[in-house]
Amino acid sequence: MSYDRDLAFEYNSPTKIIFGENSIKDIGLEIDSLGCSKGLIVTDKGIVEAGLAEKVEKVLGRRYAGTYDQCSQDSGFHLVDEGAAFALEKEADILVSVGGGSVIDTAKGMAVVMKEGGRLKDYSGVQMLSRPQTPHVVVPTTAGTGSEVTKYAVIKDWERNVKDFIYDDFIIPDRAILDPTMVAGLPPHLTAGTGMDAFSHAVEAIHTLNRQPIADGMALQAIRMMVQYLPLCIEEGENLFYRGQQQLAAAIAGIACGTTFFGLNHAMAHCIGALFNVPHGVGNSILLPHVMLFNLEECANLYALIAGAMGLDVNNLSDEEAGKAAAEAVWELTKKIGLPQKLREVGVPEEGLAEAADLSLADGCIVYNPRLVMGAEEVLEVYRAAW
Ligand SMILES: [Fe+2]
Repeated sequence: MSYDRDLAFEYNSPTKIIFGENSIKDIGLEIDSLGCSKGLIVTDKGIVEAGLAEKVEKVLGRRYAGTYDQCSQDSGFHLVDEGAAFALEKEADILVSVGGGSVIDTAKGMAVVMKEGGRLKDYSGVQMLSRPQTPHVVVPTTAGTGSEVTKYAVIKDWERNVKDFIYDDFIIPDRAILDPTMVAGLPPHLTAGTGMDAFSHAVEAIHTLNRQPIADGMALQAIRMMVQYLPLCIEEGENLFYRGQQQLAAAIAGIACGTTFFGLNHAMAHCIGALFNVPHGVGNSILLPHVMLFNLEECANLYALIAGAMGLDVNNLSDEEAGKAAAEAVWELTKKIGLPQKLREVGVPEEGLAEAADLSLADGCIVYNPRLVMGAEEVLEVYRAAW
């Protein structure tokens, strides 16, 4: 694995990770260590119904300030602003997000509005903040998003029907409590979808133009772990060891892509998510092999490494053959864990592909794709192949 002589990058991953079965019991100590005393749980109705918010409420004890449970599948600016007002009314001084990516991203936005005032819209974009924000402890209930360790928050603009983002060192969560008992009840289709989101994070960290050795090492390790343990999490969801390994792999992939950014796969997944409500991980999963084949001419050597990490014997293969084998292996993995293979299966209309392709060109992730995207027609071809 080689790098250009002009390699230059920043690596900043300050989130303290606390991993282990029943590690949520340490939340109180972590809140104390951050100098806070009143934690507001940020979550959604499904997590409340599953009893997971209550588990966290119990361990918070006297530090519990209340629960904001209005988060939705796609976070929204209006929800962030509403949640921040609720948190201030409850006099919370720290947020404890309990959920998947949308919940975590909602809390990241709330942390900003609580500190800076105004509306989150005022701070969307890149590095708009200049000081630490409201402290934030994350308890993920999916193993995929990686948002517990990243500087990104994807927030949907419901008025314009597009996904906007915040990219800022000051929204990186302070603590990530990775407790396998909090993901053990995740149903197979959500385990698979969110798991493939993490898998696509690892692949995009490796092929992005921003790739660098720290992230490469982590992403390859995350791939090794996910190939082994993601299918086992589907087969035996209650197994806390398997769940913990996938949870760690997702966080490792999150740290990797959190320092490198993404590529065409996330650009395209964001757009079909915004236009047709395709769940983020499922969109990434369907598109990934097609994007790998699109990129093959630019980074076959990197995909050959991914093939090796996936356990394929690539000794007698050229980089191109190994890269193709890696894309095939991704398909096999997604079939094995029961995910849909085509965009038509998840409600994307054929006549909507052109609009999604146009929209993709405006997504920030596309800039870092290893193969330069020359226009909407090229993206449309990839969408069509995946349709
Ligand atoms: Fe993602």
